[in-house]
Amino acid sequence: GRPKTVEINGKTYPTDPWFNVPSSVLSLTSRKLHLQKDHPVSITRKIIESVFPASTYRYYNTFDPVVSTYENFDSLGFPPDHPGRARTDTYYINESTLLRTHTSAHEAELFRSNPTGGYLISADVYRRDEIDRSHYPVFHQMEGARYWDRSKVPHGDLAAAVLEDLGRLPRHDMTVQDPSPPFHAERNPLQPHHGPAEAEAVGAHLKRSLELMVHEIFTRARKAAVLAEGAAPQDKPLEVRWVEAYFPFTSPSWELEVHYQGDWLEILGCGVSQQSLHIHAGKPDQVGWAFGIGLERVAMLLFQIPDIRLFWSQDERFLSQFRGVEDHLDRLRPFEPFSKHPPCYKDVSFWLGSSSAAGGGLGGAADWHDNDLMEVVRDAAGDCVEDVQLVDRFTHPKTGRKSLCYRINYRSLERTLTNAETNEMHQRVVDGLVKRFGVEIR
Ligand code: PHE
Repeated sequence: GRPKTVEINGKTYPTDPWFNVPSSVLSLTSRKLHLQKDHPVSITRKIIESVFPASTYRYYNTFDPVVSTYENFDSLGFPPDHPGRARTDTYYINESTLLRTHTSAHEAELFRSNPTGGYLISADVYRRDEIDRSHYPVFHQMEGARYWDRSKVPHGDLAAAVLEDLGRLPRHDMTVQDPSPPFHAERNPLQPHHGPAEAEAVGAHLKRSLELMVHEIFTRARKAAVLAEGAAPQDKPLEVRWVEAYFPFTSPSWELEVHYQGDWLEILGCGVSQQSLHIHAGKPDQVGWAFGIGLERVAMLLFQIPDIRLFWSQDERFLSQFRGVEDHLDRLRPFEPFSKHPPCYKDVSFWLGSSSAAGGGLGGAADWHDNDLMEVVRDAAGDCVEDVQLVDRFTHPKTGRKSLCYRINYRSLERTLTNAETNEMHQRVVDGLVKRFGVEIR
């Protein structure tokens, strides 16, 4: 059964039938890796902060992860049926209280209360998700916003004010592909509140600021790799590209992708903030931009960290490699993996109940979600699973019943698992599936 209340960072919250936070996730709410000195997530935060001067951007790093459903979704214009709100995707404490899924949950409040023309937040965020080397139910985001007050701009020419600031941003050695127009009536519209010149200027300031940030990160990553491997410095320029995107709280919107080891890698989302947010914040004259970036994703590139579970490791062989770097960024070096332990693959195959099954449809084919299995696996095996894949799916031609087979890779980052240990964890997965979802094991 579910607990009546839960305590998070010293505060007590009542649960209701929406509650779906496993204790393993609850226990991570106090870790705050982004504030742990010399942790790679904290070092990455510092590098990004260094690009956004404290004279303009105020830094907020201690906001609590518990927010209201209103703050996380409604205040940002998410429609009532947005898939992100589903209990399969989001950790709820109760219907109106959840673990924030993104740092944008604090936008509405900061647009009202932040005393300067911009801010940066870093924080832990929570999402129910698959299990593999780049997904973990808790990760860290950094969000930035910058805005200008139309009523304080001389002659009311906001575009000129924005562009003047832009002139001070240094030039840098990277190639930028930006094939789409500054806005597009169907795909990426200008907001009715904004004039074309000011929206274009705000968009340009946003893009140049983030290009500068990415340049800073990758210059540091390349220097570190050269120093570690004694290789010749790279003379190829860094390649990035802007791709049109959609977020309910910005328009126009973009994602920034970086060319890395032969692939285009999406690293952040951003856009011109919806004017309705500034208006609701009681600041109708403010106009500006916002972005959000995943810190682990950046840290994995920066330090060549191969598995996201490592960030939560308390193993000295991991932590000691970053000591002293936060105050001396020139000492940054790629992570050297310690010996990899053998993988152990185990399959679990089962029949789902019929889609018309009673009992709230538990185990019903129509309600089944991969994330349900992921959570059973995390509960049973903690961080000892490297990844989980759906390897087979089958519908019985006569009964119409659905069968699924998942392959679980048991592999600890820290030690070799014994057979007995792996079998025990796998048995807990099987039992958990039967008990929680009423599936029939094949
Ligand atoms: N919050 C968005 C996400 O988590 C990122 C974002 C932030 C997009 C700010 C636009 C502006 O995907």
